[in-house]
Amino acid sequence: MRILLADAFPAAHLAELADHGHDCAYRPDTTADQLPDRLDGFDALVVRSTRVAAAALERADGLRLVIRAGAGTNTIDCEAASRLGIRVCNVPGRNAAAVAELAFALLLALDRNICDNVADLRAGHWDKKRYSRARGIFGRRVGVIGLGQIGLAFAERAAAFGMAVHAVAKPGRAPETLEHANAIGVRFVDDLTTLARTCDVLSLHAPATDATRHLIDADLLAHVQPGTIILNTSRGELVDEEALIEAMADKDIRVGVDVYADEPATSTGRIESRLARHPNVYGTHHIGASTEQAQQAVAAEVVRMVDAFESGTVLHC
Ligand code: MLT
Repeated sequence: MRILLADAFPAAHLAELADHGHDCAYRPDTTADQLPDRLDGFDALVVRSTRVAAAALERADGLRLVIRAGAGTNTIDCEAASRLGIRVCNVPGRNAAAVAELAFALLLALDRNICDNVADLRAGHWDKKRYSRARGIFGRRVGVIGLGQIGLAFAERAAAFGMAVHAVAKPGRAPETLEHANAIGVRFVDDLTTLARTCDVLSLHAPATDATRHLIDADLLAHVQPGTIILNTSRGELVDEEALIEAMADKDIRVGVDVYADEPATSTGRIESRLARHPNVYGTHHIGASTEQAQQAVAAEVVRMVDAFESGTVLHC
């Protein structure tokens, strides 16, 4: 197959694709705007951050497969792809540990005020009193919103740190999810409002859908306790950022965030997010999945999918 890899991809797996007889064009610098001009003649496209709009897919004569080398497909116009008969696949689960690790790193950093602590020391200030007010996380209650593979990986880590893990009971959860959650010791509450009202920490791990858009809004934030830590390593769309900024002022909420409502369409650029600039926020560059381990695991799955697609196997994604 002729494959355009429009984002960074590990060299060993690029070589593997070539070994398997695929003709690969490695253009990790491709921007969303350049994509329509670059897709001509390719059977498959592999992307991570680069957005794939309808305009690009409509120009791509011969394109049969788009693989998002990540968990979500929200950066791809799936409706246009399906109208054009282009298969879209994602790679869920392979980066679960990496995303959970980042969420946990943000939690610990916020609790101990690590970033400000380091910045002050770098500037030569010694202020032990200012940094001696952490609440600690042992025994605290964390609400996990979204119990997919990433949510469960986060829940495991929280339980290992002695936190009481809570989630919302939802009809129709897969039996294996419930089994895993029970093994971790997750306790279920009736609804999101109860979770917001009773937890010290809320961590978002749900996909961006119509149902999850602005899940964290002014109404829900009204129930959150002062001092709550909110973590979002899932998708920016889940949070009404303006409502959160307002609630931060009223309730001393602190936020660890890796994803934003309005992210650049490529991996470098400017971000105008007010949330990212807020002093109560520790923000990172949508790097949850950016560990070597996770990227290798995702790439191995991409190679498997390309081979399977070429051999006519139905891809379950
Ligand atoms: C994912 O969907 O797995 C991540 O958001 C991928 C990324 O880092 O862009």
